[in-house]
Amino acid sequence: MRAPFSFITRRCQTVGCWQQIAYLSRVSSNSRANHTSSDACKEERSYYITTPIFYVNASPHLGHVYSAVLADCMHRYKLLQGFKSRFATGTDEHGLKIQQAADAAGEDPLTFCTGISQRFRSVFDSCDVSFTDYIRTTEERHRKAVEHFWCTLRDRGLIYKGIYEGWYSTPDESFLTSTQVADAVDVRGQAITVSLESGHKVEWVKEENYMFRLSAFRTQLQDWLHKNPGAIQPERFRQDVLQWLQEELPDLSVSRQRSRLRWGIPVPGDPNHTIYVWLDALVNYLTVVGYPDGHGHWWSAARHIVGKDILKFHAIYWPSFLLGAGLSPPRSILVHSHWTVNGTKMSKSLGNVVDPTERSQDFTTDGLRYFLLRQGVPDSDCDYTDHKVLKVLNAELADSLGGLLNRCTAPALNPNQTYPEFCPMSFPSERGGRAVPEDYRMLDAVQNLPTSVARHYERLNVYKALEAVASCVRQTNGFVQRHAPWKLNRTDDGDRRWLDAVVHVSLECMRIYGILLQPAVPRLADKLLSRLGVRDDERKWSDLDFLPSYRGKECPFQGRSLGPETGVLFKRLESASGEKEKTNLMKKHTKTRQLNKFTVR
Ligand code: MSP
Repeated sequence: MRAPFSFITRRCQTVGCWQQIAYLSRVSSNSRANHTSSDACKEERSYYITTPIFYVNASPHLGHVYSAVLADCMHRYKLLQGFKSRFATGTDEHGLKIQQAADAAGEDPLTFCTGISQRFRSVFDSCDVSFTDYIRTTEERHRKAVEHFWCTLRDRGLIYKGIYEGWYSTPDESFLTSTQVADAVDVRGQAITVSLESGHKVEWVKEENYMFRLSAFRTQLQDWLHKNPGAIQPERFRQDVLQWLQEELPDLSVSRQRSRLRWGIPVPGDPNHTIYVWLDALVNYLTVVGYPDGHGHWWSAARHIVGKDILKFHAIYWPSFLLGAGLSPPRSILVHSHWTVNGTKMSKSLGNVVDPTERSQDFTTDGLRYFLLRQGVPDSDCDYTDHKVLKVLNAELADSLGGLLNRCTAPALNPNQTYPEFCPMSFPSERGGRAVPEDYRMLDAVQNLPTSVARHYERLNVYKALEAVASCVRQTNGFVQRHAPWKLNRTDDGDRRWLDAVVHVSLECMRIYGILLQPAVPRLADKLLSRLGVRDDERKWSDLDFLPSYRGKECPFQGRSLGPETGVLFKRLESASGEKEKTNLMKKHTKTRQLNKFTVR
């Protein structure tokens, strides 16, 4: 005997989502609020997610969009669960390399930065990245925040004047020790020194700088990481940071001579020095929430999404600065790996940079989002090819989910265009009807789906959440295929009841999939739910009450008209572009192989 399921209440309590359900649908740029922190403080369940702020020395590429889409997905997921969520992104506009890029473009730095910052905004808009806050480090509010932060560190005795002598990588804006660099040869055959981590050229610098007492924070950082196992995720990155902390931390240079670096915020009280660009940039996370006034509540909810290349800055420098300024480290740092193209790092000089705008036009916004989120794995690098995108989207969105919707809403199976009746006798919770054991297993899987999706989202394993949904979609397709409702005879009462039950169950499954897919593919989920006739206010986490009729409860959808037919859910993509792509990539790959590992970019 099978117990009818009673999962929804328990499940939702696990992820703590019953209270304050917010209305998620169609989070748009209109919702970009100018939050006041006093309002926010009244909310109990708040979530503040950030992307890194992006350098404006080059146009946005697929890797940047990945960081942003990942953060967007988390933001939408939290809204779906009823949280007050804030999502910040923006551009990192100071520093030597930006100054050099503006010089090369023959523009004054601010005009140059404004142009590229706007490009990031438009790309994010075109990918439905629904940020609530956009920050530029050249804004006045940010200068004030950085100055205040600097003065706090200085007044607490954590900044002193010293001589910095060592390696500096301008592309990474990073100081490096002699163990972090290696000898190499550039493309012209000249001997150079490069960063072991990034491969970028470094130069020897000796100048009088302001230094931050980073060395004083090693034990506090270790304590923070030991006491907060979730502080850096995935775990392997927390282990990396703990490993780095096995060694002494050298004090950190936090200024450059103004004569070398014009483009940045001057050190308060000493106009001959410019604040180090990473100190400047990291403070953006505080600026957004109003620092130095009223930032407390939102700050306590802060989570940063970062690529693995900038972990040191976020997991060592940033928490030390914060502790030094009397603030707490972020709640968590969620690290993701990188996208390569045909196994090679994306770079302008290799000519293999993937343009997200172009790709979102080819594959649709949701197509690109789905691919990135479905294939992007936090732990290891992921490889991009157009051919792979085509395969994944055609299989999972066009054929599997789209095919299922098409079948169950087609007039042949659903002549009344309604959510048909579920007859418990033909699909009883105890065996005895026409349902077979696989059907019950499918119901169990869909019943448990929201719990596992929530668990995966919480750990930033969006790919696992989407895999779980895709697997259930396959099972529902199997269910329909198994019972071939198109072969049933509508004029026979028993057959008709069973046919209606099969369609009802399938529509219920799709309703659950639609709700759960909203954070990842909002437009596609909207189209799916609209076709099912699910209203905007019925798309929350609390609406994940799967198949109530099966438990003898009233189903609000039964008998309801489906929404209007608006065409296929996801149009199959032609393989012609895949062929073209293969050719292009092969050309690029050949070029790549000729280059040295330590190419100067
Ligand atoms: N400006 C700094 C961040 C300062 S945050 C206080 C920076 N900018 S960046 O533009 O170089 O990188 C921004 C983000 O994009 C980083 O998280 C980085 O890891 C990510 N990506 C850059 N290239 C990437 C891929 N190829 N793949 C995935 N993400 C990548 O660093």
